[in-house]
Amino acid sequence: MFGRTILVLLLLWTQDSVKSLRVVELRVPTHEPEGGMALLGCQYDLQGDTLYNVKWYKDGHEFYRYVPKSDPPVSYFPMAGVNVDIGRSSITAVALVNLTQDSSGNYSCEVNGEAPNFATVIRHKHINIHLLPKSGPHIVGLKEQYHLDELVAANCSLPPSRPKAHLMWFVNDRPAPTSYVSDPWFRVSDERPDAVESILQISFFATPSDFVNGAIKLKCQATIAPLYQKKTESTHYIALPFTEANEITGEEKDIATSTTLKNSLISLLIPIFFLILM
Ligand SMILES: *[C@@H]1O[C@H](CO)[C@@H](O)[C@H](O)[C@H]1NC(C)=O
Ligand SMILES: *[C@@H]1O[C@H](CO)[C@@H](O)[C@H](O)[C@H]1NC(C)=O
Ligand SMILES: *[C@@H]1O[C@H](CO)[C@@H](O)[C@H](O)[C@H]1NC(C)=O
Repeated sequence: MFGRTILVLLLLWTQDSVKSLRVVELRVPTHEPEGGMALLGCQYDLQGDTLYNVKWYKDGHEFYRYVPKSDPPVSYFPMAGVNVDIGRSSITAVALVNLTQDSSGNYSCEVNGEAPNFATVIRHKHINIHLLPKSGPHIVGLKEQYHLDELVAANCSLPPSRPKAHLMWFVNDRPAPTSYVSDPWFRVSDERPDAVESILQISFFATPSDFVNGAIKLKCQATIAPLYQKKTESTHYIALPFTEANEITGEEKDIATSTTLKNSLISLLIPIFFLILM
């Protein structure tokens, strides 16, 4: 009897220690574009505890606190890059607006329970703020037409971004052979020292295999994972070299000659046929 009581107490105690305040989900985006907004969510399960407060930190500094029993319940501590839209924030979410480079960092949500347990749980996640380019990749240096064996050279550049972009050239929808492409280079922006312009050059001597039905399609793709991907496409034509064009005209001439020959043969044979009949 006594032994059974101890077992029951032990079970209750075990259950109690398992059942305690916990953060069910910390929903914080990992990447956001500059100038945008981010909604940070913190879902918790009190498991019978009473909530004392919820605190939000960036890089260890508290910027937002929600205390249900206080009036007003919200306290906000301004910080560079942390612009909280109070109207859209609540006990389980914080809305950050006007994101800047300073908004990047380690965000934590801390949930505190009241007496007698005074349970505390904290979860954290990093947010990267990207600067997306003002426009898509830009191709310069191409001509409308090329001759065989002529040098095809172009630069693809993407306006300043942070971090730098990954550029890729495609020839007729297939990644360009590595021998066509040089190493990318990056130029620090004058107006944004934290951002760089990305440039990638393609250059090759045009061969018949580069052209499909007399045309070559060149495409440049810029990627800033996981937020951004854009392509710019440009089609160019091959001009038939002078000698080859002549040959074709010659062939056409040959066909014409043989037809004339056939015709004159017939006109010659018809009188002969009539002559035989007579
Ligand atoms: C992020 O913040 C939490 C809580 O403040 C801390 O425990 C963690 O070590 C930090 N992580 C990094 C990578 O700084
Ligand atoms: C965000 O920027 C806009 C426009 O500059 C400004 O009106 C607004 O007050 C800013 N919001 C916050 C919370 O900083
Ligand atoms: C590409 O840019 C480099 C460096 O600015 C320049 O030297 C080169 O001539 C450019 N190529 C073309 C095809 O515009």
